[in-house]
Amino acid sequence: MWSLLFCGLSIALPLSVRADGCKDIFTRIEMPSANQPFAFNCTFPPVTSGEVSITWYKNSSKIPVSKSTQLRIHQDETWILFLPIALGDSGIYQCVIKGRDSCHRIHVNLTVIEKHWCDTSVSGLPNLSDEYRQILHVGKDDSLTCHLHFPESCILDSTMWYKDCNEIKGERFTHLETKLFVSNVSPEDRGNYVCQTILLHSGKKYKVSNSITVSTTERVEYGGSIPKIIYPKNNSIEVQLGTTLIVDCNITDTKDNTNLRCWRVNNTLVDVCYNESKRIREGVESYVSFQEHNLYTVNITFLEVKMEDYGLPFMCHAGVSTAYIILQLPAPDFRAYLIGGLIALMAVAVSVVYIYNIFKIDIVLWYRSAFHPTGTIEDGKLYDAYVLYPKPHKESQRHAVDALVLKILPEVLERQCGYKLFIFGRDEFPGQAVANVIDENVKLCRRLMVIVVPESLGFGLLKNLPEEQIAVYSALIQDGMKVILIELEKIEDYTAMPESIQYIRQKHGAIRWHGDFTEQSQCAKTKFWKTVRYHMPPRRCPLSPPVQLLQHTPCNCMAGPKLGSRRKKSTLRTV
Ligand SMILES: *[C@@H]1O[C@H](CO)[C@@H](O)[C@H](O)[C@H]1NC(C)=O
Ligand SMILES: *[C@@H]1O[C@H](CO)[C@@H](O)[C@H](O)[C@H]1NC(C)=O
Ligand SMILES: *[C@@H]1O[C@H](CO)[C@@H](O)[C@H](O)[C@H]1NC(C)=O
Ligand SMILES: *[C@@H]1O[C@H](CO)[C@@H](O)[C@H](O)[C@H]1NC(C)=O
Ligand SMILES: *[C@@H]1O[C@H](CO)[C@@H](O)[C@H](O)[C@H]1NC(C)=O
Ligand SMILES: *[C@@H]1O[C@H](CO)[C@@H](O)[C@H](O)[C@H]1NC(C)=O
Ligand SMILES: *[C@@H]1O[C@H](CO)[C@@H](O)[C@H](O)[C@H]1NC(C)=O
Ligand SMILES: *[C@@H]1O[C@H](CO)[C@@H](O)[C@H](O)[C@H]1NC(C)=O
Ligand SMILES: *[C@@H]1O[C@H](CO)[C@@H](O)[C@H](O)[C@H]1NC(C)=O
Repeated sequence: MWSLLFCGLSIALPLSVRADGCKDIFTRIEMPSANQPFAFNCTFPPVTSGEVSITWYKNSSKIPVSKSTQLRIHQDETWILFLPIALGDSGIYQCVIKGRDSCHRIHVNLTVIEKHWCDTSVSGLPNLSDEYRQILHVGKDDSLTCHLHFPESCILDSTMWYKDCNEIKGERFTHLETKLFVSNVSPEDRGNYVCQTILLHSGKKYKVSNSITVSTTERVEYGGSIPKIIYPKNNSIEVQLGTTLIVDCNITDTKDNTNLRCWRVNNTLVDVCYNESKRIREGVESYVSFQEHNLYTVNITFLEVKMEDYGLPFMCHAGVSTAYIILQLPAPDFRAYLIGGLIALMAVAVSVVYIYNIFKIDIVLWYRSAFHPTGTIEDGKLYDAYVLYPKPHKESQRHAVDALVLKILPEVLERQCGYKLFIFGRDEFPGQAVANVIDENVKLCRRLMVIVVPESLGFGLLKNLPEEQIAVYSALIQDGMKVILIELEKIEDYTAMPESIQYIRQKHGAIRWHGDFTEQSQCAKTKFWKTVRYHMPPRRCPLSPPVQLLQHTPCNCMAGPKLGSRRKKSTLRTV
């Protein structure tokens, strides 16, 4: 109605400018029925921006219409409201719209008429506006609209529909808010309809009725004018549970079409289907006019998407054309999974590395004992390790070094594990020159084992080793021979040591001696010996048969020092 009104205002009506600078606009005649509420909104398209003041006047009076809600006729916001309108209210009413730099005076000719609802003599009345003259299309689903325009202060009850004074009932009729839907219209549906509602204002109840003259038209087949649904395209829409969703149905159709456009689910109008919760609603139809056709838009609003909405086709109907949307739960976020997977993978990798570092020695030794062949390694070498050790001047230290090198090392590495060691002072031939011994034998060894004692306790490693030895092992280290550094006691200060030793200590660390110096209590399975064996060339250890081994070495391997336990300083001193 309002769009029609706007058209009328902007095209057909004469415009003139008065002395007070206000443009006069004459609207069409309004013909309200007497004895019921009537309201008219003062709207005029050009004045939309900025602050505007709207004032209603009656019959060119200089006194504005009162704004007191207690009066029968009063201004309510932009409206003039009659509660109710009487025959004597006929006349010209003006509303003045004043903007910052514009002024419009709208003239409304109100001609109050008396209508008799159950009287069929409607034809006696002057021309009725489109509101009261509606058409139903035979063979289609169509609807009638009860035009009820009132300000927000008026509360409208549900609309009742009557045809020829009888309440409308039946399967084909559905009424919702101000509309009456008629499915499968037949020519018998023509006639006089009345829509009626109760209006509540300031605690008072009023009855509002509109009579509508309904005619039916045969289905007109426009050549190739089947409405075209541009969107939706029977597509699915991914939407999160619980969110709000608005989907447009866009249709192009001929300008003179009479098609009904709506949203349905389960072949029921969504507004009817969700009449109670109003969770899913159809929007008000709007259209944009083009040269050849109109583009209609009807949206559907899901206030809150629920589980039951997924997978259900929501159909947009436009005449004979239909298209639907189906809601879908969004696919799980692939990236989140990818990142999660990578993090998990990294965590696993980190823990594997961590665990490996803790159990590295045990794993390697277990692997060797399980898979390494017992045979000797064929690399042309004779010995597994060359043992290089100082001769400290301090008595107790010399005892300790001798006990370790001459008794304990042979016991564990040679007897229990089957390694072959070259120990200077044990394995050289008597009378051989020191330089020759080293020259000949060191090159036949796979490892160089260096025993170091704390500098503070003796005369330092440098002073206690023959110079040749130092030269040789420096060369060997440079050759890439693996060196096993064994500290007899914690060494605080390495700076006095040869550079190569410092380097090895820094790069590979040293193994600190653990345990006492009795031959019998040594076991290849203690932490210290495991570390030494780990650095030694691969070999299966302890040697089989284990029974024999146990006889000679009644060590309780479980009783070996635990990971990280400290050497007891007293053990050294007691020797
Ligand atoms: C009434 O008119 C005013 C402008 O004058 C407009 O803002 C408002 O939307 C109109 N109300 C209705 C229900 O058309
Ligand atoms: C308004 O003026 C017209 C004549 O211009 C008159 O017939 C009508 O009775 C007046 N109405 C009111 C309510 O004063
Ligand atoms: C208002 O409209 C009625 C009905 O068409 C007409 O008789 C009357 O003269 C009009 N009044 C004015 C002031 O134009
Ligand atoms: C009704 O309106 C039509 C055009 O809309 C016009 O031809 C006809 O003369 C009008 N009849 C009356 C009684 O005003
Ligand atoms: C439907 O048409 C309206 C108006 O032209 C437009 O704003 C909207 O984006 C269109 N929607 C779709 C889904 O095409
Ligand atoms: C649609 O119909 C199906 C079965 O025909 C029913 O299970 C479902 O609840 C209906 N949905 C709505 C929204 O009425
Ligand atoms: C909703 O519709 C059902 C049947 O279609 C009806 O029984 C019920 O009264 C309606 N509720 C409202 C609030 O209109
Ligand atoms: C949906 O339609 C209503 C009118 O019924 C309108 O106010 C609203 O802006 C529309 N929503 C969208 C997103 O187009
Ligand atoms: C969409 O589905 C309806 C019926 O389910 C069908 O009539 C229409 O042709 C389909 N549209 C498209 C574009 O596939």
